[in-house]
Amino acid sequence: MRLLVVRDPDELATAAADIVQEVLERRPDALIVLPTGNTPLGMYGELVRRHAGGHLPTARMRVAQLDEYLGVAADDPQSLFGWMQRSALGPMGVTSDRVIRFAADAPDPTAACRAYDAAVIEAGGVDLAVLGIGRNGHLGFNEPPSGPDAPTRVVELSAESRAANAAYWSGDAVPERAVTAGMSTILGARKALLLASGSAKAEVVRRLLDEDPSPDLPASLLKHHPDATLIVDQAAYPGEGGGET
Ligand code: GLP
Repeated sequence: MRLLVVRDPDELATAAADIVQEVLERRPDALIVLPTGNTPLGMYGELVRRHAGGHLPTARMRVAQLDEYLGVAADDPQSLFGWMQRSALGPMGVTSDRVIRFAADAPDPTAACRAYDAAVIEAGGVDLAVLGIGRNGHLGFNEPPSGPDAPTRVVELSAESRAANAAYWSGDAVPERAVTAGMSTILGARKALLLASGSAKAEVVRRLLDEDPSPDLPASLLKHHPDATLIVDQAAYPGEGGGET
């Protein structure tokens, strides 16, 4: 896993957008997994600016959702899809027909997870997975422990993840369960980009850098990935410099 330490969230946004842009320039119909959360917001802002300036080819870009709350319809404004559409997809000109979504409100959510994976395979696999990291080391909603073969599935959210997501639910109870792209789908991406920003992530970044890959820290499994990059800003970085981990 390559490590890139940048100064601040602005530099992180630029460096992450550069990687997305490179992938799209090489393959305009690339399938890209995109995350929700605060961390990628700067990257989305930068991508939207580049798109508005005519510098980012999104006309054929395809996107796959990373995760979704169970039982929440895609057109519910509190859905992660709704958040993604408002923050990134709409402003970037990515139309819904180019998004592989979870049917998280389907009567059989496990079948919906299989349909998601089938759609990803049918689309030729994931070219780039952009990921945030939970304070407990989760990727998407692959809570610890999640091994490399953990499939796309329904998961129980940890108390920590529910607390972290409470801001989006303005007083309503955060759902207890979610669906997530599995570790197998994430690790199967041809390229992976993990972003960490802010002092609240310094402890989990320290663990990520220090510990051997383990299901107890799902993000650490990216150390076995052939083309993974971790970008951290200084507030999230417990040491000095950059290099390989
Ligand atoms: C949620 C999402 C993750 C995201 C994480 C971190 O739990 N399911 O995909 O990476 O939050 O979010 P933030 O970037 O706001 O810290």
